[in-house]
Amino acid sequence: MAELSSAGLLSTNHIDIVTYDTASKLPYLTAIYRESLRFSAPQLQLPRVSDGMTLNGVFIPAGTNISTSASVIGRSTDLYGPTADEFRPERWMDADEGTLKNWGRHNLGWGGGTRKCLGKNIAVMEIFKVAVQVSGQRTNIDGWLVDRCSSLGYLNQSWWRVEMNSGLSCD
Ligand code: HEM
Repeated sequence: MAELSSAGLLSTNHIDIVTYDTASKLPYLTAIYRESLRFSAPQLQLPRVSDGMTLNGVFIPAGTNISTSASVIGRSTDLYGPTADEFRPERWMDADEGTLKNWGRHNLGWGGGTRKCLGKNIAVMEIFKVAVQVSGQRTNIDGWLVDRCSSLGYLNQSWWRVEMNSGLSCD
């Protein structure tokens, strides 16, 4: 929130739309994005069927199901050290160029090679824009909810609601 505030992105007008260019240049948000992909990789497994190959000296007969796991790699202490099991976005801001490059090479959050996610660019754009839009304007969304949904007692909860431009009913 401090980063959004200093970047002037805590809007009081909920129809201001942040651009991807602006959102993707926020260092802490970028670190949170990278850490989220590492810490909670959305794909647990990336399965493949062997065509009869040798991996690290081990022969994998044709037809055998094999898999890598972005989740397991993301928690590797060899890569991320003793704090691998902690959600710590700052690691991406503290790391040197060489380390960042190495982490990037091992990041399978979007898959890799020829089967890499075809929707990566649009998904990344959505992640950055929605994070700023929802977090930066949360007070305004809360205000909208107070106005229209006060009977729901949402103040003790933490959830967000997507509203059509034309407005929608809370009944
Ligand atoms: C947070 C959002 C997303 C994540 C984390 C994600 C992740 C992935 C991963 C890890 C793969 C590789 C699967 C594999 O190798 O077995 C993949 C493949 C793919 N993704 Fe995504 N994806 C996301 C959103 C999207 C979106 C929005 C689209 C389309 C607009 C999309 C389209 C595809 C397609 C078509 C493939 C298959 C590519 C191929 O096999 O050649 N993804 N995705």
